[in-house]
Amino acid sequence: KNVAIIMGGYSSEYQISLLSGDVVYRNLDELKYNAYRVHILKEKWVMVDEDSNEYPINRHDFSVAYKGTIIHFDAVFNAIHGTPGEDGLMQAYLELIGIPQTSCNYYQAALTFNKRDLLSVLKPFGIKTAISHYINLGDAIDEEAILNKVGLPCFVKPNKSGSSFGISKVKNKADFMAAVEVAFKEDNEILVESFLDGTEVSVGVINYGGKVTVLPITELVTENEFFDYDAKYLGKSEEITPARISDEMTNKIASTAKRVYELLKMEGFSRSEFIIVDNEPYMLELNTVPGLTTESIVPQQARKAGITLPQLFGNAIELALQ
Ligand code: DAL
Ligand code: MG
Repeated sequence: KNVAIIMGGYSSEYQISLLSGDVVYRNLDELKYNAYRVHILKEKWVMVDEDSNEYPINRHDFSVAYKGTIIHFDAVFNAIHGTPGEDGLMQAYLELIGIPQTSCNYYQAALTFNKRDLLSVLKPFGIKTAISHYINLGDAIDEEAILNKVGLPCFVKPNKSGSSFGISKVKNKADFMAAVEVAFKEDNEILVESFLDGTEVSVGVINYGGKVTVLPITELVTENEFFDYDAKYLGKSEEITPARISDEMTNKIASTAKRVYELLKMEGFSRSEFIIVDNEPYMLELNTVPGLTTESIVPQQARKAGITLPQLFGNAIELALQ
């Protein structure tokens, strides 16, 4: 079977995606697939071979002319964080042209990529969330009213983005508008959220061999003000798996994350983030194309669960092909 690993994307996360995609590529090599790297970039969609030569993708059917033949892909492994891989665009395109892919469907992707919409869908089911205020680009901003509602410190974040790009923790009123400006660089909608002072945990839930499986929970500890880009990728954090929380809390979070996966009829990968305050998990977000480098959280959790990377990635392709 020919499998295209799509990576890159149009957002600030494209470099992280290239790292995730390369890890998937190297691990698929051990399996029975013919794996190809496909870079989906604003300027070009290209298959990149071992010698870094680039071959343009035919966008009509996602095929590629390579060394005298036309390669058609049987499946796509989606390693694009952010748009267009995590917000439903690639999912919809691939579904229309009939190529199965490893992440959830276009609707689940679009819904979960929009933090406000995701949390408002889950709230009526008893999933707790921070107090939040939503701002659209161009809206009048009543700073006083917003800060009265969410309190200080608060978080200002793009509504649709990843890897903490554009997120600020605001401690003083004087810094609020600058944070709003930073967030609007990433997205045309932003969320202002109350600060949840507690233990942050990350929970991978995947379909493994047809069964919804909660991976061991990871506790996120950082010396920074929050789990920002540097904490995530420049080593300014510690990721502790399993999390140092009680068995009772572990069960509570695992069952909450599994319930979320089932409520959303999720497929493929997911990794959701919670902050535990007063023995209650508050949900922050859900990633449907989580980081997949060897040091990323889901691969770490999978290893703790006894699942190797070739098994993790091979499972995703097998499920997509079913
Ligand atoms: N958005 C990053 C890649 C993650 O969720 O791991
Ligand atoms: Mg995220």
